[in-house]
Amino acid sequence: MNKIRIKNCHILTMEEDRKQIQEGEITIEKDKITYIGNVRDNIDERDYTRVIDAKGHACLPGFINTHTHAAMTLFRGFADDLPLMTWLENKIWPLEDNLTGEDVYWGTLLSILEMIKSGTSTFNDMYFFMDDMAEAVRESGIRAVLSRGLIGLEGKGEKGLKETDEFISKWHNSCEGRLKAMLGPHAPYTCPPDFLKEVIKKVDHYKLPVHIHLAETSFEIEHCREAYNRTPMEIMEDLGFFKHPVIAAHCVHLSQNDIEIMANRGVKVSHNPGSNLKLASGIAPVPDLIEAGIEVSLGTDGAASNNNLDLLEEARLAALIHKAQKDDPTVIPAYKALEMATRHGAEGLFLGGETGVLKEGYKGDVILINLDKPHFYPQHDLVAHIVYSAQSSDVETVIINGEIVMENREVKSLDEEKVMFNAEKKAFDLIKRKEA
Ligand code: NI
Repeated sequence: MNKIRIKNCHILTMEEDRKQIQEGEITIEKDKITYIGNVRDNIDERDYTRVIDAKGHACLPGFINTHTHAAMTLFRGFADDLPLMTWLENKIWPLEDNLTGEDVYWGTLLSILEMIKSGTSTFNDMYFFMDDMAEAVRESGIRAVLSRGLIGLEGKGEKGLKETDEFISKWHNSCEGRLKAMLGPHAPYTCPPDFLKEVIKKVDHYKLPVHIHLAETSFEIEHCREAYNRTPMEIMEDLGFFKHPVIAAHCVHLSQNDIEIMANRGVKVSHNPGSNLKLASGIAPVPDLIEAGIEVSLGTDGAASNNNLDLLEEARLAALIHKAQKDDPTVIPAYKALEMATRHGAEGLFLGGETGVLKEGYKGDVILINLDKPHFYPQHDLVAHIVYSAQSSDVETVIINGEIVMENREVKSLDEEKVMFNAEKKAFDLIKRKEA
């Protein structure tokens, strides 16, 4: 059985009381944290399978990416600087129509490799070829919440629902509990109300949370107004979705009534500042959402609209853009941005009590950041340093579910060369196939 001791590190527990331990120790046994506190004397280290002396390191919970489409790393840098609908309709959807399961497998592995190397221990994803995605999660050791992306147009609805059933029965709660399932209707502009009614029957049946894109662009708002005389939030509310746990990605264009609905119903928000900026979708009213008591976490969205999966960069963007927009430098302070990347991420995925903070009884999802770098000196304020100065490559060690998946920047669970080589080959082959 795994028994890991990490000692002499500066621990940021990310608990609500903001507890930090200057010279701390964490013990992980099997998949759980069994001790966190000051370094203990009189410990017989022969009882441990690993002892890590983490002097000069910060120790945090792994970052949680609450909205992405992992396999879209295959399209990174393929189509940039376009509006969302042009980008989707002319570039991305035609390629996605040609994807195979093997493409999705290698694309997902590439993104998992990138996420582990930047300190992400959990991600939330909506896509297709679920067996291939789940296989990548199983092999890599990462924690994931996956949903089969559902589109209700062009007769695609039935197949998606059938594959949702298959996916949930085969993979929910698998991989030592690392993999969980949600229901994944794509968005109100790709899922007409009649189809959403079919989806909600599944939600009632499985009692699983829902992952959806909502209120991303002004196009979507206009579409919903014209077709249904409702905002996307009002459509979801009227159909009864918000009686269930829902995480909504983006939430850029919201009315006051929308925000009230979300607050009353406990809708969770995945804020994707990088993607929203790049596609010029707008800036989500995150300070107002937080003010209304809504839980806001961070997502990268797919790598084709970001173009990386670096959650630390999203935390920094979240801490920066709202200050400029509100003309107020006190908005989204560093600690709040870091909470959005950790504890609020876990709450957003309905994994609160399991991950997102360092606490006894929680999962052993832990990262170590090497502080012995010029950009961390002088060490006045560790939280400010991590949000405003750190680079994701400062993350040196990543432990997920009690397993060391990266140590000294070397990923243990995957063959890095092979993943990069095969993912690139699949991406180039896909474009050739489409052009042929
Ligand atoms: Ni998305």
